[in-house]
Amino acid sequence: MDASVLLALRDPAGVPFYPVVFQALYVLTWALHAAFVLLSLGSMGLSLYGTFRQKNDANWKILTPHLIQTGKISVSILIVLGVAPLLFTQVIYDPNWYVANTLSGIWVFTFIYSLIVGYIMYYWYYYANKANAGGGKLIGLISFAILVFAGILMHNFAVTSIMPNEWMNMYAPNGVVDTSGTTFNIDIVRLAFMVSLSIPVVGIFLQNYSRFVSTKEDFSKEFVAYTASLGTKLGVVGLVLSAVLFALWMLQIGYLMHPLVISTVLGVVVLLLMTAGNSNSYITTIVLVVVALLISAVRELIRFDIMSNLGYSIYDYPVNLEIPSIVMFLLTFLIMGGVGVAYLLTMAWKVGKNQGVFDGSKDVAVTKLGNYTLAIMVAWMVIYFGWGMAILFNNIL
Ligand code: HEM
Repeated sequence: MDASVLLALRDPAGVPFYPVVFQALYVLTWALHAAFVLLSLGSMGLSLYGTFRQKNDANWKILTPHLIQTGKISVSILIVLGVAPLLFTQVIYDPNWYVANTLSGIWVFTFIYSLIVGYIMYYWYYYANKANAGGGKLIGLISFAILVFAGILMHNFAVTSIMPNEWMNMYAPNGVVDTSGTTFNIDIVRLAFMVSLSIPVVGIFLQNYSRFVSTKEDFSKEFVAYTASLGTKLGVVGLVLSAVLFALWMLQIGYLMHPLVISTVLGVVVLLLMTAGNSNSYITTIVLVVVALLISAVRELIRFDIMSNLGYSIYDYPVNLEIPSIVMFLLTFLIMGGVGVAYLLTMAWKVGKNQGVFDGSKDVAVTKLGNYTLAIMVAWMVIYFGWGMAILFNNIL
């Protein structure tokens, strides 16, 4: 692939801020997206197992609906968090993203409908299980398969987008243009590694879950111990499996000895020891976040190198500074996002830590944070639409 083709595919308007910032934000937000992808697949997969145990096992009777609920909420979060890396990838790697979307057009459509159908079926599974413990197994299985399929499609877009040298063959195999949009590429080891991570993620989640509910009187000591030990087992086995697949993937692409990869492997070893010890799973989760960032950085390194070798460096992207948009983005992300997330987390924490029914309206911190969140959201809408209208009318009148 000639660099001039790649450069011609860039947005002539340039990028509104320094590319390195978009690159860092891509790494950060993809790690967040991945965290919830893995939590949703892990908790949903485990809940399916739970539906078979739930009738005769007191522990699974409590755990299964909680896992279904965790997966259900995680899917909505992963969708919201998927948008951010999508935007950043479109800004600095637009040639890659749009070519992949064109070559795999039919799969892009399929992705959207799979997500809609898969998620609706998830609600069906949730309600069926609520109505009758152990119910909705088949629907749950189909929903799980559809959501995994959505992940495989995402993987296809990611892999196709970093194969510029093959694009011409995919577009016109043997010189005949193929407009079917059915291009499908899979890197089985990379995909297996990504999906395998859902096992340690749900394991560490269970350790946190057990620690969190341990202070509530409604949960027996036996249940707390059972979920902690299940979490440790899943965490350890899953991490070993993921580590092997990661090493295989790195070996396959010749990155095993790269300093970033070595740091990631060291991070996984520390994570493994901490998960096995389970002395404080909240600290283990912080290490998990660091490892997720490292994995996200490795993905970016691979893409960056492929593109740089072809003469396309994101750092050479023409910059057309547009301070107001970046300020608006950062304020939205940090202030509105920060306060909103703090509100939800504080409330969730207090619900779990108080005995009996928790009334948020009687709690000073929760009420304050709730009011701030509402006020900031109203201000945000006024500024966002007001500013947009002002610019629009200024330009057209
Ligand atoms: C159940 C739904 C989903 C699953 C299971 C899923 C899973 C995945 C996986 C496994 C990857 C990594 C692929 C790889 O590197 O090989 C990925 C990447 C990504 N996903 Fe998702 N995803 C889902 C939904 C979404 C949604 C709804 C969005 C956007 C709104 C999104 C945006 C992204 C982006 C931008 C990437 C990075 C692509 C790239 O770097 O080229 N995902 N996703």
